[in-house]
Amino acid sequence: MSYSVAVAGASGYAGGELLRLLAAHPDLEVTTVTAHSNAGEKLAAVHPHLLTYADLVLQRTESAVLAGHDVVFLALPHGASGAITAQLPDDVLVVDCGADHRLRDPGAWETWYGGEYFGAWTYGMPELPIAGSDTATTTPGAIATAGAQRASLAATKRIAVPGCNVSAVTFGLAPGIAAGVIEADDLVSVLSVGTSGAGKSLKLNLLASEIAGSASAYGVGGVHRHVPEIIQNLTAAGGSGVSISFTPVLVPMSRGILATSTAKLVPGTTAAEVRAAWQAAYADEPFAHLLPEGVFPRSGDTTGANTVLVGLAVDERAGRVVVVSALDNLVKGTAGAAIQSANLALGLDETLGLPVNGVAP
Ligand SMILES: NC(=O)c1ccc[n+]([C@@H]2O[C@H](COP(=O)([O-])OP(=O)(O)OC[C@H]3O[C@@H](n4cnc5c(N)ncnc54)[C@H](OP(=O)(O)O)[C@@H]3O)[C@@H](O)[C@H]2O)c1
Repeated sequence: MSYSVAVAGASGYAGGELLRLLAAHPDLEVTTVTAHSNAGEKLAAVHPHLLTYADLVLQRTESAVLAGHDVVFLALPHGASGAITAQLPDDVLVVDCGADHRLRDPGAWETWYGGEYFGAWTYGMPELPIAGSDTATTTPGAIATAGAQRASLAATKRIAVPGCNVSAVTFGLAPGIAAGVIEADDLVSVLSVGTSGAGKSLKLNLLASEIAGSASAYGVGGVHRHVPEIIQNLTAAGGSGVSISFTPVLVPMSRGILATSTAKLVPGTTAAEVRAAWQAAYADEPFAHLLPEGVFPRSGDTTGANTVLVGLAVDERAGRVVVVSALDNLVKGTAGAAIQSANLALGLDETLGLPVNGVAP
């Protein structure tokens, strides 16, 4: 079975990565690509690396252009998706890589983004453990399963893809929260983030001469827009009173995120119980891997792959668990998660078209 696909925002980084992955998908056929300032250009003019679609012409991003496809992927600036998708038929599978439909709390949307609130869609993280779901156990210290989120995705036509930093932190911390081995109220995450996370538009601080050889923190002091989404996820995983200090640091690499997250160990929990929590959560996951004891991920090992790598240690003296998680912001952090979730919504094998192996060096 072949499904027709439109990619909106195809001239950007996330849109380009969607196209790169879709070119290898056996059941999804891209027939339409759209853009904003680049409308009218051939795709080859903005993404010379995407030979498969070189001759497709970028059309204007309008609902009339996007309607009529089985699947529409949106990779637009936040605030641009809501009005367009409100006009798309209910039977079209719409997968939004932006923030417009991620937050379930309208108040949080107003506080962190502002503007019209278009409602929350099914969250595109199949691995997210949902506490209290019918498949999750309520035994204290036991592990909630990720089955409920997959079931939600299998039943939806509207998917909100997570933020890339959010994914890195959630994959790092959710298993420990769900299993009740770490405290949720004193989380700290510091992330090394590649420049493509900021998109393709020109920005002074992203010029090679500014970024090469330098690292700089941004969104410091709890003001980054990914904070409420992380809290939403870790609360869904079973965290109570979730509080996180979150600091991204821009580093000179084009893609990738390396998140170092720490949390207080629940008193009386052993290091073996901590490792068992992450081991159980990721043992059967196709794209999330816990590395052996003493091994920690490098962001570069996830480049190009729909893979998140996690390394774990217990700092006994500090009474904290330290989790290092790595992913490619444009793959597992956006386009890969979008396609993985779309696969579920279409009733396809979840892993179709998605690479597990990174590109190295
Ligand atoms: N980059 C990442 O790592 C990442 C990760 C997770 C989620 N996301 C999300 O994915 C979305 C796209 O991000 P990106 O990094 O791909 O950004 P980008 O490289 O700046 O691309 C933005 C795209 O949107 C189009 N566009 C710009 N203004 C528009 C408007 N007013 N109306 C309609 N289309 C418009 C652009 O078209 P023209 O180029 O033709 O002007 C381009 O195709 C954002 O919501 C972002 O938060 C990105």
